[in-house]
Parts: sequence; C-alpha cells; structure tokens
Amino acid sequence: MPIYHQLGRVPRKRHIQFRRETGGLYYEELVGNMGFDGPSSLVYHLRHPTQIKSVRLVRVLDWHADPEPFFRHRHFRTSQLAAGGGMTGDRVPLLFNNDVALSFVQPTREEEPFYRNAQGDEVVYVSDGEGVLETPLGELAFGRGDYLVIPRGIMHRYRLITQPVRCLVIESRGYVRTPHRYRNEHGQLTEFAPFSERDIRRPQNLQTIDQPGEFRAIVKKDNRLTEFVLDHHPFDVVGWDGYFYPWAFNINDFEPRVGRVHLPPPFHQTFEGDNFVICSFCPRPYDFDPEAVPVPYNHSNVMSDEVLYYASTEFMSRKGIEYGSVTLHPDGVPHGPHPGRVEESLGQTHTNELAVMVDTFKPLRVSTAAVAIEDPHYYKSWVE
Ligand SMILES: [Fe+2]
Repeated sequence: MPIYHQLGRVPRKRHIQFRRETGGLYYEELVGNMGFDGPSSLVYHLRHPTQIKSVRLVRVLDWHADPEPFFRHRHFRTSQLAAGGGMTGDRVPLLFNNDVALSFVQPTREEEPFYRNAQGDEVVYVSDGEGVLETPLGELAFGRGDYLVIPRGIMHRYRLITQPVRCLVIESRGYVRTPHRYRNEHGQLTEFAPFSERDIRRPQNLQTIDQPGEFRAIVKKDNRLTEFVLDHHPFDVVGWDGYFYPWAFNINDFEPRVGRVHLPPPFHQTFEGDNFVICSFCPRPYDFDPEAVPVPYNHSNVMSDEVLYYASTEFMSRKGIEYGSVTLHPDGVPHGPHPGRVEESLGQTHTNELAVMVDTFKPLRVSTAAVAIEDPHYYKSWVE
C-alpha cells in the first residue's frame, strides 16, 4: 500500500541497534514481497520470528473443479450454503484459476490458531457482520461493506462481534493494489481517482504481547495448510513502519462515476491484481442525457470472464438474482440486460445497486461446491 504508516516505537535509523530499557535487543524483520524490491515494512519483535517448535501438515486443499464444465452463463446462490466453521479454515470454493480464487465463508465460531496466507494476497469483502482483524501490526475493525486487503505473509486472526458474518474471499496470486491509472508517478492517488488515501483505513491499536508458550499458526502454501507451533505469542511487535500491512476500504467510500450516457465498468474499478480486476457498483444517479439508456449495453467481453457478487437485492439489469447471488458470464458468449430492463430503466433517476465484480483475463473453473448451489436455468433467463 503506497502510504507510509508507523505504529509503536522504531529506532532512529533502520538496521541499527534497538534496545529495550533493560538493555537487550529487539529483533528486526523485513516483511514484504518481491524480495527486497517490493513494498515492505520493518517490524521489531521481542523475540526472534524464526522460532518454530514443530511443523505438521494439517490438510491438502483439494479444490475440485466441475468435471463437466458447461459453457453457458452460470448463477450460484450462496444463500443455499450452510453457515459454520471458522473464517479461514472453512471456506467454500466457488470459482478459480491460477491467478485468482473466489470462495465464500459464513463463520459461526472464532478460530484459535493464527492464520497466514503464504501463497496469495486476500481481499475479503464483508457482506454481513462486524468484527476485528487482529494482526501483529495492529488491529482493523471491520463491518458491512468493507474490503479487507491482507497481503501475503501477514499473520492474522478474526475476532467476530456481530453475527451473521458472510464474506466473499478473493485470493490473488499477484500483489493486490490500487489501479495504476489512479496513481501519479509518486504513488499518490490523484484527483481523478474515485477514492483517496483518507478512505483507506490502516492498522491501529498495536498490542505487544510478551508471552512465551505454545501458539499454533496455520500457514497456507502450495494449496496446503501447515501448522507451525511457535514458542511465543506472534503478536510480540513493539513497533513497525513501512508500506506493507493490511488495510481496509469500505465500498460505500467509493465515489461512483456517472456520465451523460452510460459509462463502462472500468469506471468502477477499485483494485488491480495480476490478470484480474475488482470493481464496485454502488448506488448512484443514472446517466443524465434525456435520451440516455441507463442500463448497460449488451457486451461480449472477449478474453475476460466476468463474475458478479450481488451485495443487495437490487441490480438494475438483472432479474432472478437475489442477495448473495454470484453470476459468471464467461468469455465467448454475449450478455446484457434481461428483457424489459432497458425499457424499465428509461427515465429513472438513480439506482441503489451494490455489487462486487471480478473480471479475470483467463478462464475460471467452477467448483463442484458451486455446482451444488447452481440455478441451472439461468442461461435461459434472457428468453422472453
Ligand atoms: Fe458485463
């Protein structure tokens, strides 16, 4: 995240002796991506972060793709998924490829072990619920409509406050960042961006826990969950600074764009990954030309699969969808407004839609779990 942030105490200069009042040293750790070239933070621990007592494989995450990948528009109802389990260990895979994976989770209990994703960044869209994301770098309170962006390698744990909690989890092989075109050459979000640094919430309330003992951490790597038993509480950070940390952005802080006539989805882009983008469709006035057609035109987004998560019951161009629906409009077949929706939209002044879109540049595979909650007739829903 291209905003410098600091919590707690850090030494006058990096890589110099940093001592406790009792004289002992604190232990410095660089946390970042792309070796020593990418965004990073310098973190100061009470104990060595390398102290691991034991390691064991917990589970292989064998995500099963639909063996009969029907080529058609798809509609999945997450409302048919049962709630249960924890926030990180019980996610239901929906759609995935080698760049990005979408899963859904409705935790009913807090997990005891800490969790760290060592193979991807996570963007967790909080559709329902409230809680606190606890990390060694501080806490992020979260609620409905928040995107939690958790870079790989950041240990964390969810504290749940208000149930039900329903989250769409977007896991990215590449670094998740704000769109390049929103930033100037110095990294600042420009006046043309649909949000600013003020909308980005950074960790607060750094807790330094000085506690030896046995603490379990589940690490995701190579699609496997491995348990590391640490010899001390991992939240032993006295201070840190840098550009690599978890952050939050609420979908309602996105400033939607409106034109005289319809603007295409890239105007709603919120995040950029490698080979995919995330967009936010938010409540907004409709286009204002007297002859404008507010709903989108039909489109064949060639070389792109389009996923929509419907975060409210209203979506201006679709019928038959519900809160929590996920649609997949794959490359190679046109899609657009349902019959009647163009006519219905004429003369209307605003929309209350709320949706998260993930456009991937390589085809997605559908999980068997998604097939189990599929509306198999969706592809025919454009027939009058
Ligand atoms: Fe579309």
